[in-house]
Amino acid sequence: KKIFAFSIRKDEEPYVKEWASKHPNIEVGYTDELLTPKTAKYAKGANGVVVYQQLDYTADTLQALADEGVTKMSLRNVGVDNIDMAKAKELGFEITNVPVYSPNAIAEHAAIQTARILRQTKVMDEKVANGDLRWAPTIGREVRDQTVGVIGTGHIGRVYMQIMEGFGAKVIAYDPFENPELKKQGYYVDSLDDLYAQADVISLHVPATKENFHMINQDTIAKMKDNVVLVNCSRGALVDTDAVIAGLDSGKIFGFVMDTYEDEVGIFNADWRGKQFPDSRLEDLIHRSNVLVTPHTAFYTTHAVRNMVIKAFDNNCKLINGKPADTPVKVG
Ligand code: NAD
Ligand code: COI
Repeated sequence: KKIFAFSIRKDEEPYVKEWASKHPNIEVGYTDELLTPKTAKYAKGANGVVVYQQLDYTADTLQALADEGVTKMSLRNVGVDNIDMAKAKELGFEITNVPVYSPNAIAEHAAIQTARILRQTKVMDEKVANGDLRWAPTIGREVRDQTVGVIGTGHIGRVYMQIMEGFGAKVIAYDPFENPELKKQGYYVDSLDDLYAQADVISLHVPATKENFHMINQDTIAKMKDNVVLVNCSRGALVDTDAVIAGLDSGKIFGFVMDTYEDEVGIFNADWRGKQFPDSRLEDLIHRSNVLVTPHTAFYTTHAVRNMVIKAFDNNCKLINGKPADTPVKVG
């Protein structure tokens, strides 16, 4: 049997080799190229594919894979919002993801960036680099003085809560599916409106669903406290970027952490040095001293990457051998 993997980066290669060495009965092939309608042909002769990419899994891409006889696809990441599920269902795809590869990777990044915004480290770094070593007016806010509102108490949200509590913050949370342990400990507020009214820092840890599209918008920002800090290490589609820019301009929003951006596809994880930057709105955000932009790298740690590769191959191996996968995705 054969598994073919797309878009394998240099930092993933050792883990692909590690998995292959432990599964001598499975032939493993891979490329550093993304899966597209053009490259799908590399999977010819394979029983399944292992994939990860920022590009959408469009109907054309899925069709091209199916034309090669491959309909067992294992993602190396959590999010499944970029798959044309209707087409996948029509073609009979079986799909797996890796829902828990390292919640700490993302939670830790969100927490670090939260603390940086509160201490205005980007402002101070810029001042120091320019020879301005004065303290004022770049005074910090201590995390322990903040009420931190966590939206979504799944795998990542829960770790973020622990880290922020470690700093001494008061943590409150909202999730329509309350975790019984957290409920017992009294973290939950009754509604998002309650969270908006109380939180000094708001961090999003929810999936991009139709219902959650632009959940942070002009109306919801108006319900938040003045000088609120917004943290989005989840998905760009959750945030109406124009509304956040208006909030930054008016001073309502103290700072914005963005690891994800609604128009990131085709822009993040690419080298724009010496080229025309393709998005003036993003360029503006990048250059603001109270906005911390990272190009969807919250997940990007050695711990996470190893788990993403190994778990995706494990899943695909089960799929191609007709066994139930560890973490199947509902197709349709
Ligand atoms: P999870 O499924 O464990 O938890 C998500 C939680 O959000 C669930 O408990 C769900 O009930 C809750 N939820 C859904 N809609 C909500 C709403 N409107 N209000 C409040 N709660 C809501 O997911 P997770 O592993 O914690 O991941 C969260 C998200 O993080 C993923 O969906 C993905 O978009 C994002 N993510 C980002 C990166 C990155 O590198 N930046 C990496 C992995 C995941
Ligand atoms: C995810 O796992 O869903 C992420 O956001 C990380 C990225 C590799 C897509």
